[in-house]
Amino acid sequence: MDFEREYHGALTLVEQALDGCFQEDGPHRELLNAMRYSLLAGGKRVRPVLTLKFCEALCGEMEPALDYACAVEMLHTYSLIHDDLPCMDNDDLRRGKPTCHVKYGEWLALLAGDALQAAAFERLAASKRTAPAANGRACAVLAKAAGRNGMCAGQYLDIVEEGQRLGVDRLTQIHLWKTSALLEAACLLGLTASPAEPSPGQWEAAERYAKELGLAFQIRDDMLDVESTAEELGKPIGSDADNGKTTFAVLYGLDRCRELVAEHTQLAKQSISRAFERPEFLCALADSLAKRKN
Ligand code: IPE
Ligand code: IPE
Ligand code: MG
Ligand code: MG
Ligand code: MG
Repeated sequence: MDFEREYHGALTLVEQALDGCFQEDGPHRELLNAMRYSLLAGGKRVRPVLTLKFCEALCGEMEPALDYACAVEMLHTYSLIHDDLPCMDNDDLRRGKPTCHVKYGEWLALLAGDALQAAAFERLAASKRTAPAANGRACAVLAKAAGRNGMCAGQYLDIVEEGQRLGVDRLTQIHLWKTSALLEAACLLGLTASPAEPSPGQWEAAERYAKELGLAFQIRDDMLDVESTAEELGKPIGSDADNGKTTFAVLYGLDRCRELVAEHTQLAKQSISRAFERPEFLCALADSLAKRKN
């Protein structure tokens, strides 16, 4: 299995599909420009790649999941635009470019995020690559992950507890909500898109994989905020410290963080290795995210 080639193949599908979004003309063109500005600014596209590859792991093809993959990236991009706003993390660089509110102003960035979130659900509901019943289930999966018992809950605690020293259990809860939840949705959307039904064991394996992957991913994100550079990362460094956030880097230091990332990555890989016939790509993806530099 050639990991780089496979990742590139999935990435190319996603980039082409996203590039077709929000091209229409109208008096609201500047709103669409703001949406495209953030959506097409690059990014690793981890979530849509997970969606495509979980679909492929089940049925051998990525194409049934392409609309779902676009949807999860739209929702993620909305979360980043809002996360960067002055009332939240107040950051001015994202994906190597000025953040949406720096480029377009706060009110337009807020609306661009809102409209991307709505467009995500529209894309799920209207997909012609999948059956209407699957599209309904997909909407439920994404809504659960993004909302009050998922990403928004995590973002709430992340902000409201700024300046407080948190324990490891609370911090883990925040990471599971703010980061693992959407990664889990990405994986489950891939299974939902597949014309072949996942077994209960495969569904559970995907959930466990995503939870562990999310913990590794966010601990790595917290490390990079300390040890990377803005050039390499494409977003400001030191943002967590400036905002008084407790992170795993604060609690344990970078060396222990490296071990924790390795442990969660191992658990992620174990979760899926027996549930799917061809787990190689998903295991290699977990390994590559553990070492990521941006
Ligand atoms: C950033 O997500 C937000 C976190 C959950 C840490 P990514 O690291 O996936 O950001 P992009 O999409 O590659 O820009
Ligand atoms: C953001 O976590 C998670 C979401 C956007 C839901 P961070 O605030 O750590 O993400 P970055 O570091 O700004 O990308
Ligand atoms: Mg944040
Ligand atoms: Mg942030
Ligand atoms: Mg961060």
